[in-house]
Amino acid sequence: MTTEKIPLAVIGGSGFYEMPGLTDIEEVEVATPFGAPSDRIRIGTLEGTRVAFLARHGRQHTILPSELPQRANFWALKSLSVERVISVSAVGSLRESMVPGHLVVPSQLIDRTWGRPSTFFGDGLVAHISFAEPFCGRMRAAALEAARAAGATVHDGGVYVVMQGPAFSTRAESELHRAWGADLIGMTALPEAKLAREAELCYATLACVTDYDCWHEAEEAVDAATVFATLQRNVAVSQEAVRLLVQRLPERQGCPCATALDAAIVGRREAVPADVR
Ligand code: ADE
Repeated sequence: MTTEKIPLAVIGGSGFYEMPGLTDIEEVEVATPFGAPSDRIRIGTLEGTRVAFLARHGRQHTILPSELPQRANFWALKSLSVERVISVSAVGSLRESMVPGHLVVPSQLIDRTWGRPSTFFGDGLVAHISFAEPFCGRMRAAALEAARAAGATVHDGGVYVVMQGPAFSTRAESELHRAWGADLIGMTALPEAKLAREAELCYATLACVTDYDCWHEAEEAVDAATVFATLQRNVAVSQEAVRLLVQRLPERQGCPCATALDAAIVGRREAVPADVR
């Protein structure tokens, strides 16, 4: 397998199954200790830069958020020498000001998922990554600038609550999430962000607002058809933002994401002498 660095991987969410402008594409099937990734990874050239593209739910959209092989996805990206990841995903809005069609570069996460394998550690390797800032600050800044340059209305920051799904929230849950101070709701940013940090990848999310969930009195409660219709109308601007992001990728040198494990590893079974194991 090639060891030439791939500066950026794009994880395309619902409605984002292709990366326009990606040329000289090679499709790779990567085997990992966690099974196969969501799909074959397409590696090509975008704006003169090597870019990998992975359709999160598979290109036929056949994998539920809770079924995603996230460890396989991130293992595969790391083994391809990817350095940064931009994850594009559909979200519901919990704030009037975040209007369907807008983009948001979230700054925080609340985990309401369960039962999703969310770490590469364990089995004799004990480590605890710092996760106070779940997204790479440099990638967030670059994504924000790229989204603005693409002509989107884009919000800088927001608390994204990650729910299990696949059903959408009840009205009471939607109100609870708003009362917690959450701004957005989606189903996929975790465990992605944790696995990215464990893999020492710079990671940010470009969230595409598709609906007002079910708290808004003047709007219909969300359904999947509305989400996909809004995505279809707006996918081109996210794709343009990604193209422009490639032109302004931040420095990895000195980024804390690149050395996230330096202060994280507590113990390895191999390090314990055999007679005290
Ligand atoms: N993805 C898009 N809209 C959503 C919503 N309202 N809840 C959870 N995930 C979503």
